[in-house]
Amino acid sequence: MTFEFTETQLMIQETARKFAEEVLAPSADERDEKEQFPYDAVKQMGELGFMGMMVGEQYGGAGLDTISYVLAMEEISKADASAGVIMSVNNSLVCWGLETFGTDEQKEKYLRELATGKKLGAFALSEPEAGSDATNQRTTAERDGDFYVLNGMKNFITNGANADVVLVMAQTDKTKGHRGVSAFIVEKGTPGFSVAKKEKKLGIRSSDTVSLSFSDCRVPKANLIKEEGFGIKFALRTLDGGRIGIASQALGIAQASLDASVKYSKERKAFDKPIANLQAIQFKLADMATNIQAARLLILTAASQKDKNENYGQAAAMAKLFASKVAVQAALEAIQIHGGYGYMREYKVERYLRDAKITEIYEGTSEIQRIVIARSLLQ
Ligand code: CAA
Repeated sequence: MTFEFTETQLMIQETARKFAEEVLAPSADERDEKEQFPYDAVKQMGELGFMGMMVGEQYGGAGLDTISYVLAMEEISKADASAGVIMSVNNSLVCWGLETFGTDEQKEKYLRELATGKKLGAFALSEPEAGSDATNQRTTAERDGDFYVLNGMKNFITNGANADVVLVMAQTDKTKGHRGVSAFIVEKGTPGFSVAKKEKKLGIRSSDTVSLSFSDCRVPKANLIKEEGFGIKFALRTLDGGRIGIASQALGIAQASLDASVKYSKERKAFDKPIANLQAIQFKLADMATNIQAARLLILTAASQKDKNENYGQAAAMAKLFASKVAVQAALEAIQIHGGYGYMREYKVERYLRDAKITEIYEGTSEIQRIVIARSLLQ
């Protein structure tokens, strides 16, 4: 399969690359060091249409396809993987879920501002006892007239501290197990909804990851997504697309690792020659480039299946499984090529490794991706 990009797709890629190089890259290390959320950059990404790329223009989105989205995600993540995950969660998990399953009123009320980047979204599925085992939801949502009353705790929620709107999964009927889980739109500032704990992390340190607490939090019935019992299907279907976004984030980190390695190996001399002359280095670069290209093709395959409305769950899981592994390997090799310098904060490659690791964990660990792939083979 070959991919020939349209003029629009190439233009989006170029715009994202320019923005990433000019706005994100110069300050990415400092934000990582200080754990600073990129407020200004996210605002600008909204203005450029990067926060609601696949949302229809009638809701303020850019009306683009998934291929354009993955091209932009790679460029943004190449410069700053934290900005990459902020963008991915808002696009894939929040905007896509709302546009696909929300009512017209919900879209009018929430999607427009999320798609234009005026507001930020988060996706709250994980709980202390429901990570990989996502169906084991303990947060409850009890019906009380025109409201649902939410109680419980969500954790490891990307964008959680800065989000204006959170999509929350909660049990409306415990007797039905995972078929009793429902999805809700919860607004920041709703009484009983609060940020409980901000996590300190190994990587993607300028994105925020928090626990969210719900204590008798009253959410209007109008904020139920689709119908009671739809929550797990909503979450897992949405995550299928999320995994394409995270795979693209991993690809960006891997490509950044290769670019830094090529540059350094031409500059750094050992034994009177640039280390690029050594086969030991050349073989590493060749393996990195080959794996990166394979990851890119898996991602584009998944994105193109999604654009063609084909079943893309398996392809998305393959793309994320492979690209996340490639990102970790590429970052490790980049450090090895940089030698002692690679281990130091002064060079970016140590950040690439710290940022890469999470791509093997969030939006479904590599083990979960294998389960998803195997089940689709065996069904
Ligand atoms: N789309 C829609 N529905 C799906 C689905 C999909 N891709 N996959 C499964 N389902 C449905 C099933 O049909 C089933 O419903 P029915 O019983 O009505 O048919 C229901 O969901 C439960 O499925 P299973 O019986 O297969 O459940 P399971 O517990 O055996 O396995 C799993 C499911 C694949 C392991 C799933 O729990 C999973 O993907 N876990 C990982 C969760 C995850 O990715 N978490 C990431 C958190 S979000 C995050 O990280 C965001 C962030 O902030 C960056």
